[in-house]
Amino acid sequence: MRALISAPETTEGYRHAEAPEPVPAPDQVTVEVRHASVNFGEVRHLGFQPAGTVLGYDAAGYVVQAAEDGSGPAVGERVVAFGPGAWGERAVFGTDSVAVVPEKVDLAAAAALPLVGITALRTLRDAGLVLGRRVLVTGASGGVGRAAVQLAKHAGAYVVASVGSPARGEGLAALGADEVVVGLDTVTEPVDVVLENVGGAHLVAAWGLLKPGGVLESIGWASGEPAVFPPNSIFALGAAKSLRSFGDAAEPGPDLATLVDLTARGVLDPGVGWRGSWTRFGEAVEALFGRRIPGKAVMDLD
Ligand SMILES: NC(=O)c1ccc[n+]([C@@H]2O[C@H](COP(=O)([O-])OP(=O)(O)OC[C@H]3O[C@@H](n4cnc5c(N)ncnc54)[C@H](OP(=O)(O)O)[C@@H]3O)[C@@H](O)[C@H]2O)c1
Repeated sequence: MRALISAPETTEGYRHAEAPEPVPAPDQVTVEVRHASVNFGEVRHLGFQPAGTVLGYDAAGYVVQAAEDGSGPAVGERVVAFGPGAWGERAVFGTDSVAVVPEKVDLAAAAALPLVGITALRTLRDAGLVLGRRVLVTGASGGVGRAAVQLAKHAGAYVVASVGSPARGEGLAALGADEVVVGLDTVTEPVDVVLENVGGAHLVAAWGLLKPGGVLESIGWASGEPAVFPPNSIFALGAAKSLRSFGDAAEPGPDLATLVDLTARGVLDPGVGWRGSWTRFGEAVEALFGRRIPGKAVMDLD
């Protein structure tokens, strides 16, 4: 089959090539992948994986072989899936890592959901009840950020969305942001929760904006810059503030089903900001690093 594979010997770190057909374990379905989405972390680390590894994690398509153990969706079902090896014409996924996509949800849009949706959903859950609370989302123009803005709003929060420029803030108010700010300098009122995607100076500033008892979910570090906390800046009077890591995308199937359901109900817009053939993968990577994609890049495996 054709696939996008790791190629550490090239400057790009990847290439389109023939790859062996994936072999499913008894608890895995085989999916004919029609659309796949691109995540920041995957493209930042292109060429880091052993040569020939089929890249990618987010996919949507049709089940062409059901799981041998009888679990999961049947042949012909439209599914969205999360797992390694997604950027091939066919891919195998554990039945705990897929969700059925109803006809009313576009399959390409569904492909945008997995990693960013699971991340936004799980970090919000981890932060606790946000009804009536102030939630700050940094890197709100990106994939995780857009999903986080919408889910936090749906959960009843007052949402402050931070972006890098006014143009990057376009459309966020319509998705539920109560305030769209450029950087964090103009945020003066403290917040209860931060969903932090940028790292570096953003992480330090966001920590300073957190109320006593507040939770900062450190999701990502898109800036790649170091975070320098001034002496004593972690100290705070009152209830302890927490800084939490996130990295748990295990068994995503039920959360994928929730994300698909929220999409079907019009609560969540998967936010496809770039769409094109997977032969244009290089363009998608450049646009993502150039911060020109509002939301997600979705490739068609045409
Ligand atoms: N912990 C986990 O399991 C997990 C899961 C998913 C993602 N992540 C991480 O979370 C972060 C966000 O992921 P994503 O998929 O939302 O990425 P994305 O779509 O590329 O969005 C990242 C956002 O960060 C902002 N940014 C600020 N400085 C940047 C810089 N120097 N380079 C690039 N972007 C910069 C950009 O917003 P402006 O242009 O508006 O400034 C951009 O929209 C990434 O670091 C990713 O690796 C972690």
